[in-house]
Amino acid sequence: MVNITETVLRDANQSLIATRMPFSEFEPILKTMDKAGYYSLECWGGATFDSCLRYLNEDPWERLRKIKAACPNTKLQMLLRGQNILGYKHYPDDVVRMFVRKSVENGIDIIRIFDALNDVRNIKVAVDETLKCGAHASGTICYTLSPIHNIESYVKLAKEIEALGVQSICIKDMAGIMSPQEGYELVKALKANVSVPIIVHTHSTTGLGFMTLLKCVEAGADVIDTAISCFSGGTSQPATETMVYALRQLGYEVPVDTNVCKEINDFFKPYRNECLKSGQLNPVVMGTQTDALIYQIPGGMLSNLVAQLTAQNKLDKLDEVLLETPRVREDLGYPPLVTPMSQMVGVQATANVLAGERYKNISKEIKSYLKGEYGKAPGEINKELQKKVLGDEEPYSGRYADTLAPQFEEAKKELGDRATCDEDVLSYIAFPTQAEAFFEKRDAKKKNTFTYTIKKMG
Ligand code: CO
Repeated sequence: MVNITETVLRDANQSLIATRMPFSEFEPILKTMDKAGYYSLECWGGATFDSCLRYLNEDPWERLRKIKAACPNTKLQMLLRGQNILGYKHYPDDVVRMFVRKSVENGIDIIRIFDALNDVRNIKVAVDETLKCGAHASGTICYTLSPIHNIESYVKLAKEIEALGVQSICIKDMAGIMSPQEGYELVKALKANVSVPIIVHTHSTTGLGFMTLLKCVEAGADVIDTAISCFSGGTSQPATETMVYALRQLGYEVPVDTNVCKEINDFFKPYRNECLKSGQLNPVVMGTQTDALIYQIPGGMLSNLVAQLTAQNKLDKLDEVLLETPRVREDLGYPPLVTPMSQMVGVQATANVLAGERYKNISKEIKSYLKGEYGKAPGEINKELQKKVLGDEEPYSGRYADTLAPQFEEAKKELGDRATCDEDVLSYIAFPTQAEAFFEKRDAKKKNTFTYTIKKMG
């Protein structure tokens, strides 16, 4: 049997239209989605939280509660960046635990937890709290290619993650660069070495997605991530209906109702067309882009590099930057190129080329990384570079969050009566500026409604 996680509300939304789908847009289809038979509905975390506050004037917690109310029979899933929760810096443990607890209380059933460096210490606390709350912790392997990443290293990592007590392990191929053969071998090896279910997450960016998912299923993958067809393909996931059709013909049982899938797809189609018309959805991102296979860097990172160089009128340096990027990555001990590492490596490679001298200018983030503040690098860090930044100081080798003082109660005091609940405090800790602006608008709206009610009554 193969199970399906539907991503239209989170990753497809994030990858195709920069997470701008408002709740009101998908609210009418939720009750139908609840009948599809999905293993889970990925609907929260990742960029949805930030986007709700920043662009959509929505309370992310309220969105989650409303989804839960409309989908009582489907497991709701979120993506969590381990010790970074939904941001890019490390938070103290009290914040991580409170965030996990409130996520579960508000309706999350499965939390997929990852760390950009695959440093297990950075997912440990989030996993522990998820289990304490009685929810499903899905440990994650960020998939990347490098001379030090191989089947053995991934199996070792999977065993460490399994030892935390997770109920499943997800292979997260954020760049869509895992080939059918690599996927097959990796899933086979994981199935032979760990006993929890294996989930495969990839993107269609390079065109490998469908083939990779199929080979992973052949190797024994238990769950695959797909997106309803009109929001699938390109930087999004392979299409749900297509995978179900092909897998059933090959003899796999897939417990998804295809009639319901058709209803869901028919519902989202007009909205997809609207996004195309408004330019919110660029048809290019729905197509196949194979550059990531040549440069071994994610598509999003490549477009960032092009944008950076174009802004500085230095696009003629692109080839040099593309040669410098893997060298910077090597100096840093081959971090997976996932946010925020992809941006950090890209910015540093660009700086190295434009300055005409390597590491003449070193970004604040790279300095923190070299100090050990992001966690343990997968491989060896270039000693010379580390010495250049740290001098005789030793890099921090412990778990960085251990150096951070508790923050929740402090933030709660700071906010005072602007926060109406603990969820507000967490929104504020994660995205202070956006949350404050949101609270102000919410208060103003409340006052308006109040005046309106009084007028009406009068
Ligand atoms: Co993804």
